[in-house]
Amino acid sequence: MNIDLCEHWSLGGVDVPGRLVLAPMAGVSVQAFRRQGRRYGAALVCSEMVSVAGIQHRNERTLGYLRVSSDEHPLAIQIFGSDPSAMAEAARMVEAAGADVVDMNFGCPVRKVTKTGAGASLLDDPELACRLVEAVATATSLPVSVKMRRGVENGSRTCLVVGPRLVEAGASSLTLHPRSAKQMYTGTADHSVTAELVELVDVPVIASGDIVSRARAQSVLATTGASAVMVGRAAQGNPWVLREIMGDDREPSREEVVAELLLFMRETVRELGEQRASGFLKKFYGWYLGRGRFPRPFKQELVVLRTVPEVEAALLGAAPGARFVLERLLSEQPDPTTEVLLDSLPISLYGGG
Ligand SMILES: Cc1cc2nc3c(=O)[nH]c(=O)nc-3n(C[C@H](O)[C@H](O)[C@H](O)COP(=O)(O)O)c2cc1C
Repeated sequence: MNIDLCEHWSLGGVDVPGRLVLAPMAGVSVQAFRRQGRRYGAALVCSEMVSVAGIQHRNERTLGYLRVSSDEHPLAIQIFGSDPSAMAEAARMVEAAGADVVDMNFGCPVRKVTKTGAGASLLDDPELACRLVEAVATATSLPVSVKMRRGVENGSRTCLVVGPRLVEAGASSLTLHPRSAKQMYTGTADHSVTAELVELVDVPVIASGDIVSRARAQSVLATTGASAVMVGRAAQGNPWVLREIMGDDREPSREEVVAELLLFMRETVRELGEQRASGFLKKFYGWYLGRGRFPRPFKQELVVLRTVPEVEAALLGAAPGARFVLERLLSEQPDPTTEVLLDSLPISLYGGG
């Protein structure tokens, strides 16, 4: 079995130059994560779920999620909500922000989201789910994709009933994470359900869940007929898994690991500001330095340091050669003052300033 992961496919007219997609993950999928994902082989990246209520209220932090840089295309921005007109307005803002695809979240199992009628609970309300897709597809010229769970209850096959209806309502692509919402992240993703969905719809399907290696990616693509596989948790602090899936299984050196982490930290500070970034980054230290790459006490040492520069100094102390790798990575980055459009949102998105 040798499936070509570099094969292009079309998501509602958007060219996706490969069959590996980076998953949307709340609290993870910042711009730095998405740009890194693109460098390591993901052909399509996605923002974390963005609240349409936050967009409607012009919440500054929410609007920050709509920032798009020039080197992350093609990019989907994911929205969640349960009000068709608010969803439509959010979709127009996603288009104005420069995304290539509007993705709709019908999969979030978290109570805070489902109790508002959004996320996975929409699988139990197909009429509303279809109205939301229709409203978004009508509001924007971008292709619309929907990401969903198999259903709410364990063993549910709701996605096989709702999926085709969402396509009729205007979805150009479906992503399936074949766990139930009740399962959260326990058990395994049952991709036999993905294969059934592929049979039922004539739009591309992306398979999400437990894709952790090239072997797994190849087998899920071969057995489901999906257009692409999506990688989530395996890529947290580990862009090298994307490279491995694409066919290059070199293990990174300690210097490479530290240099990627340092670059990620710098970009995240630029994106979120030093104060927010210092808390946000803590989980990434364990993710990058784990997998036997660095001893556990070192990771614990970093987490208790108060500022990002202190962490930088400790990392460079542990792997001094990372400085040179970082210099190379920085020289390969687009010039942040001209290329990375961190503040490119049209003024109107901020409500006229
Ligand atoms: C921390 C975390 C945050 C997530 N946030 C989102 C999200 O914002 N939107 C979404 O559609 N899925 C979200 N997911 C689900 C993932 O996109 C993916 O479908 C799921 O993790 C299964 O894939 P994996 O086994 O490769 O991690 C999240 C998952 C995790 C672990």
